[in-house]
Amino acid sequence: MDKKVTVIGAGNVGATAAQRLCEKELCDVVLVDIVEGVPQGKALDLTEAAPIEKHDAHLTGSNGYEATEGSDIVIITAGIPRKPGMSRDDLIATNAGIVKNVTEQVAKLSPNTVLIIVSNPLDAMCHVAYEASGFSKNRVIGMAGVLDSARFRAFIAMELNVSVENTHAFVLGGHGDTMVPLPRYSTVAGIPITELMPADRIDALVERTANGGAEIVSLLKTGSAYYAPASAAVEMAESILKDKKKVLPCATYLQGEYGLNDLFIGVPVKLGADGVEDVIEIKLSQSEQELLNKSAQAVEELKGILQKLNY
Ligand code: APR
Repeated sequence: MDKKVTVIGAGNVGATAAQRLCEKELCDVVLVDIVEGVPQGKALDLTEAAPIEKHDAHLTGSNGYEATEGSDIVIITAGIPRKPGMSRDDLIATNAGIVKNVTEQVAKLSPNTVLIIVSNPLDAMCHVAYEASGFSKNRVIGMAGVLDSARFRAFIAMELNVSVENTHAFVLGGHGDTMVPLPRYSTVAGIPITELMPADRIDALVERTANGGAEIVSLLKTGSAYYAPASAAVEMAESILKDKKKVLPCATYLQGEYGLNDLFIGVPVKLGADGVEDVIEIKLSQSEQELLNKSAQAVEELKGILQKLNY
């Protein structure tokens, strides 16, 4: 393949993302993990599936970074996932150290790459990667909104018994309890869901979306969601690799847009070869803007914790 994507962390999210990337024949994949043998084993296993899945993507597994040189995209999933009872924010101290370290390593060998951050707490980890890489803001992007919107879409399709393909949804804000699903901009075949279901059902779906990650954690008990997070990261990677310029909700560094400054938070962006090529500013109602501001406050609090931890 003429494109190369490195996935850091060969755990649940990372290995699933690697599988999706190669099965879609988007790129060659380098899988990196600190645990000896795991990235090599998973890369080999996926390679052995290739004749059946009919793709010619090359997979490499490594504990070092040499093979990552010149990556078009680096997806960072390294870190620890949540266990039941934990919030994403509980992961901050451990994952900040991991994300800083891996970002420094990949930035040295792939100075022109685009970073897609998946590790949680997402918005805070974007800050860590932004600082550690020294990259321009368009090349550090957080995966959250695509996942949260996909969850909302799945629930809308289940509720109305329609094809998921007909659904569209926007979830903005931080990737946490304060995320902001926008029913007004969420549609089935172009029809706002506010026309299709009563307010109390919309509220229920919005709440289920905001708790979507926790719902999976409480079922799995030993870790957090990975199929949908991997799909979301790969949709973002595809738009960048193919320069598709899809408009997707992603965590990006805002400098004045939506009245917010110097923080990563989820808003609609255009994703192309240069990463975030545009931030789309949609008109929010007063109550939607208030919810976004509240979400921004939560991200600010995480930034404060990072500062105390010297990141
Ligand atoms: N360098 C490389 N890999 C690392 C490092 C490091 N410094 N530290 C940890 N890892 C690896 C682990 O060895 C593990 O294989 O990261 C992987 C994480 O995989 P899982 O434990 O399966 O976690 P996963 O479910 O994939 O979630 C990863 O994404 O969605 C978020 O909250 C989630 O922060 C978590 C991350």
